[in-house]
Amino acid sequence: MATPRDYDADPERFRLATRVTERYLSGGRGQHEHVAEVLTGAGAGLVLDIGCGEGALHTALHTALHTALHTALHTEPRTALPVPARPRVVGLDASATMLARHPRPVVRAEATALPFPDGVFDAAVAVNVLYHLGDPVAAIGEAHRVLAPGGMFVTASPSRFDSPELAHVWRPEPSSFDAEDAPRLVARVFGRVEVEWWDAPLITLPDERAVRDYLIARFVTPGAAASAAARVRTPTTVTKKGAFVYGRR
Ligand SMILES: C[S@@+](CC[C@H](N)C(=O)[O-])C[C@H]1O[C@@H](n2cnc3c(N)ncnc32)[C@H](O)[C@@H]1O
Repeated sequence: MATPRDYDADPERFRLATRVTERYLSGGRGQHEHVAEVLTGAGAGLVLDIGCGEGALHTALHTALHTALHTALHTEPRTALPVPARPRVVGLDASATMLARHPRPVVRAEATALPFPDGVFDAAVAVNVLYHLGDPVAAIGEAHRVLAPGGMFVTASPSRFDSPELAHVWRPEPSSFDAEDAPRLVARVFGRVEVEWWDAPLITLPDERAVRDYLIARFVTPGAAASAAARVRTPTTVTKKGAFVYGRR
């Protein structure tokens, strides 16, 4: 049920996934940009990014801070908007390969055994991570423990019905943390949760090669991805489905 981890053995698969999303995102904005805006709006100071990868959230927070500062400084009267606090990100990941490219400070650790005392972070984030765990609730419990009172937990995961336009050649494997289960699993630790669903035609794959790369990024072997891609009419627009789940300590 847990999605395999290949981040040290084959980091190029994850990097391809990142490039495919950046290149073919045709509507809306990315998940990290959304989470960064939420965290900046909430005034989060110290942020723990659990399963931080190579720093997509770190980059998005930097951009969101500059946008918020620009807005605050150019809104009349000048005092109308508070100047946002600068978030500081601690990147935590089990993969040394991922951490090598993440801005410091970073910590190599398992999400189920966070090497921090209780109650120190303003926010804990786990974007596209918890489906790698056999027991995601154990990691959610650890996130809860390290949050300060009132601290925010944010997680995101894709739906088991993601990319329906490709269902004739590929379907997502069921995982331990599909979006459909995520609210209930987070609620087991945090009690009340808020959920924001996404369900929109966000990715346009222009040609067969783009479809192949999209499938390789989703753990399909290159040979199987190439033959599946040959059976997809292009260009094709793919509906992305999933959820953000928020909890408060
Ligand atoms: C799909 S990537 C997401 C990276 C980043 N959150 C992002 O959205 O770009 C999953 C990340 O979770 C990390 N990971 C998987 N299982 C983990 C665990 N048990 N503890 C810590 N990190 C883990 C992987 O090494 C990888 O960097």
